[in-house]
Amino acid sequence: MSTLKERDREVIWHPYTPMKIRPESIGIVSGDGVYLQDEDGKRYIDAIASWWVNLHGHAHPHIAQRVSTQLQTLEHCIFAGFSHEPAVQLAERLLPILPGPMAKIFYSDNGSTAVEVAIKMALQYWGNKGLKKKKVVAIEGAYHGDTFGAMSVSGRSIFTAPFDEKLFDVTFIPFPEEGKEQESLNVLESLLQDNDVAAFIAEPLVQGTAGMRMYDPAILEQYFGLCKKYDALVIADEVMTGFGRTGPLFACDTIETGPDMVCLSKGLTGGTMAMGITATTQQVYDAFYDDDMLKTLYHGHSYTANPVSCAAALASLDLTLDEACSANRERIEAQHKIFAAGIKNNSKVRDTRIMGTILALELDTGAPTSYTNAQRDLIYNFFIDRNILLRPLGNIIYLMPPYCITNDELKYIYSSITDLINSL
Ligand SMILES: Cc1ncc(COP(=O)(O)O)c(C=O)c1O
Repeated sequence: MSTLKERDREVIWHPYTPMKIRPESIGIVSGDGVYLQDEDGKRYIDAIASWWVNLHGHAHPHIAQRVSTQLQTLEHCIFAGFSHEPAVQLAERLLPILPGPMAKIFYSDNGSTAVEVAIKMALQYWGNKGLKKKKVVAIEGAYHGDTFGAMSVSGRSIFTAPFDEKLFDVTFIPFPEEGKEQESLNVLESLLQDNDVAAFIAEPLVQGTAGMRMYDPAILEQYFGLCKKYDALVIADEVMTGFGRTGPLFACDTIETGPDMVCLSKGLTGGTMAMGITATTQQVYDAFYDDDMLKTLYHGHSYTANPVSCAAALASLDLTLDEACSANRERIEAQHKIFAAGIKNNSKVRDTRIMGTILALELDTGAPTSYTNAQRDLIYNFFIDRNILLRPLGNIIYLMPPYCITNDELKYIYSSITDLINSL
């Protein structure tokens, strides 16, 4: 009998995977809390929450129970001309806790589609109002997804290279690196002064895929404030940062000025089902509320507001809003800080960054920091050999664990990182 690994190789084409160079996939048969178990019985600590989606551990009984009940009640239903309890209830529960005065929830399928919807809403918003604001501004190095609109607002990179000439024009402002924050703000302001910016999109506080690059809430506040001053819409892409990742419930909770749209996915369902949300203000919604059919947002997906996904999101929200969850997030951040303080002066560590439950270490491998750093596979395999799933972004290793990870599990990961650094 062939193994899962062997059967996979015959029939599967994996995401972000150079299939000739990295053909092997580990066959996972079950998940339980912070662990994933493979077909040989080996258990891995999921230190990156399975692509940043898992909040409360794998196969969580509360989420499983709600999903199972929903499956036996209503598995799916068209969402144009029809509605259902889980979708309405989820919107009712999310709107009051989202940053900014959010008034409406638009459902889609994943993080990229949540961003696509936000971009389309922003561009059509100004068109519906008869105003010529068409420019979109984003931050250099951003990652907002892999569909064409989401790629367009993302930094140009090896991810986008084959498609660059087909992407629509976006103006990028410099990343607000320490000491260069004012330059980034000045560029944004000079663009806004032309009065043709439809929207500004940002990953608040942390650029994930760019290597967990972090910036201060004071900068985010000024970005959003400038956009308000010059009447450009603000899209907060909280796909990665949402639901407690950076400490507070949402990264935008750290500032006063609210966005006009919030994109959500990943942790939205606790990592159980695929779903995206674009939340928006009454002001944006009102620009589409018209007798003129041409002012409609003609966008949707077959699985929009899937009831099972909504049930998973409701169950995950129960757990996220529990005090035990914020206590866990604080505990993880405190552990990260202790570890980082001990390692930050090591000559092999270029930088340590912490934001809430995220810890990133930029390692000095003798080569420039890059997603294609030659040591990447060595680092990945080093941790796999120690039963830890830790997927480096080139020479940047980061932890983004499910919130249920224990201090002992964290300590095991930290000591493995120390071993790696000593071996470099
Ligand atoms: C900030 C951000 N936006 C959007 C996306 C795209 O989400 P998805 O992979 O669900 O399409 C990601 C994925 O990593 C992300 O980190």
